[in-house]
Amino acid sequence: MTIAPVQRTATPGWTDARLILELEAVVETELDRHLKAAKEWMPHEYVPWSQGRDFDGVLGGEAWSLDQSKVTPLARVSLVVNLLTEDNLPSYHHEIASMFGREGAWGTWVHRWTAEEGRHGIAIRDYLLATRAVDPVELERARMSHMSEGFESDNAHSMLQSVAYVAFQELATRIAHRNTGHHSGDPLCDQLLAKIANDENLHMVFYRNLLKAALEIAPDQAMRAIADVVTDFRMPGHGIPGFERAAAQIAIGGIYNLRIHHDDVLQPVLRKLKVMEVTGLGPVGQQAQDELGVFLDGLDSQATKFDERQAALLARRAAAAAAKQQ
Ligand SMILES: [Fe+2]
Ligand SMILES: [Fe+2]
Repeated sequence: MTIAPVQRTATPGWTDARLILELEAVVETELDRHLKAAKEWMPHEYVPWSQGRDFDGVLGGEAWSLDQSKVTPLARVSLVVNLLTEDNLPSYHHEIASMFGREGAWGTWVHRWTAEEGRHGIAIRDYLLATRAVDPVELERARMSHMSEGFESDNAHSMLQSVAYVAFQELATRIAHRNTGHHSGDPLCDQLLAKIANDENLHMVFYRNLLKAALEIAPDQAMRAIADVVTDFRMPGHGIPGFERAAAQIAIGGIYNLRIHHDDVLQPVLRKLKVMEVTGLGPVGQQAQDELGVFLDGLDSQATKFDERQAALLARRAAAAAAKQQ
């Protein structure tokens, strides 16, 4: 006699409203853990105010010019993408407040998260303006254009997809800030971005732990959501003017590319949650897990091809630079 495996999705089709209610206790625990782990820090301490001076215009100071910028050309591109991404916080707040609600533990988290994220944009903008790292006029026009477009999540239709997306996206943002700092050529910029990256990491842990609980409560639906998010992932800054070109430079420069996305963002979350090891799934979850496996293998090979193209391009650039010096 065979015993039918226990179906963990005894209640088929969890609605978003029921999941939000069911996860409230987990949010409370995670919020508590987050508040204990998050250390207060002051954005103004990371800005070298003594380097700042008036700009042209109302105060008749000195206009910005490229030679004033001390960060690397790659960091200039990446810092702007990172800042504009942070700048769209009102849209992100709207998205998560609409999805998770503004009451109870969920509401406390939504507001606390928003306050922490607000610090990132403030700190980066103050740093960029005080050090004259980027063109302030171009930056302001890009901000106006980007924010005027608003941001609509690809996952707004599903609570589980939203949680899965932010678990990966917070880690992606952490890595993007951290690597931008490493490539900036300015130890203070590196320090500031490490601080911000630390916040993003704590956000990732919050959402990852929530996703873990969701996998236990509704394994099939959560597996489907993870597969959908992973196979269709794009960064929240994709609407930034000139994003494609900037993303290509950021990829070649080693700040964020397919290899990093696969190795440092997708895999750590999937491994920690043991997503590929979940057993006892129903047909929906099983299919999603299989799709995920196939996708990850494909992405790994694509990343290897990218690695080769990147190495070849960098070698050509180095040869050209050496030839110029002779
Ligand atoms: Fe942030
Ligand atoms: Fe974050």
